[in-house]
Amino acid sequence: MPLGGDSYLRAVRAKYNEIEIWPSSDRWLAHVQHWIRGCIAEWKPDLRLKPDSRILNAGSGDESYNLAPGLVVDCDIADRKLVGLPCGVAGDLANLPLKTGSVDVCLCVGSVVNYVSDLPRAIGEIARVVKDDGRLILEFESSRSAEYMFTPHFGRDVSQVRTYYIYEDENIWVYHEDHVRHLLEAAGFKIVARSGAHFIGPLVYRFKRNLHYAARFARFDKWVSWIPHLKPHSANIIFLCQRR
Ligand SMILES: C[S@@+](CC[C@H](N)C(=O)[O-])C[C@H]1O[C@@H](n2cnc3c(N)ncnc32)[C@H](O)[C@@H]1O
Repeated sequence: MPLGGDSYLRAVRAKYNEIEIWPSSDRWLAHVQHWIRGCIAEWKPDLRLKPDSRILNAGSGDESYNLAPGLVVDCDIADRKLVGLPCGVAGDLANLPLKTGSVDVCLCVGSVVNYVSDLPRAIGEIARVVKDDGRLILEFESSRSAEYMFTPHFGRDVSQVRTYYIYEDENIWVYHEDHVRHLLEAAGFKIVARSGAHFIGPLVYRFKRNLHYAARFARFDKWVSWIPHLKPHSANIIFLCQRR
């Protein structure tokens, strides 16, 4: 996959137009999807959804996460994934095809922002379309994941890494949690809840290079997430945010 610019975007689009996004045979991803679903379910009351709510599922792929009540607009660069979705709109997170202040809730999960070279712009776009009292659920992959320990990427605000993700190695950007926090706060979002996934698995993967084996350690997430020194080092982080 090329390193950036339009050719990168085209390659991401081509990949996601072709693949099954959450193959059930992939234990690592199955855990991530289960965790995302769990967080959405837990935080749903805070989204204050009503029948006339407008929900943007940014970088939706073909997964609508059953957010109801409300009208869900699924938006993705991979246009073929939108076929059959009731309200699918092809579009780039860096330039959302939606009006300012037109959305009550934005869901952006499944490492969508890790494909974006300009995170401030993507967060700026989300902030533009979300109403003043709106909500955001944002999930991303962290540069403090143990996978990057002892590499120049570890703990960087933004770093482009080559990592295995759905069938092949690819280039994505990973972010320091504090960097994402600062951008969200600067865009007018307050983070009101947080969770992490894959704490020990990334370290195992770092040395063993076997994702399937490393995924077995996800079963310890529930306990490890309470250990202060390990808490910041999950591979995936999710925030619930509300406008201030
Ligand atoms: C791992 S999939 C997650 C899909 C979905 N959010 C889910 O949780 O099932 C990442 C998605 O991000 C989309 N994506 C990547 N870069 C994007 C961009 N700049 N604008 C919109 N979507 C993008 C991809 O096409 C892909 O569908």
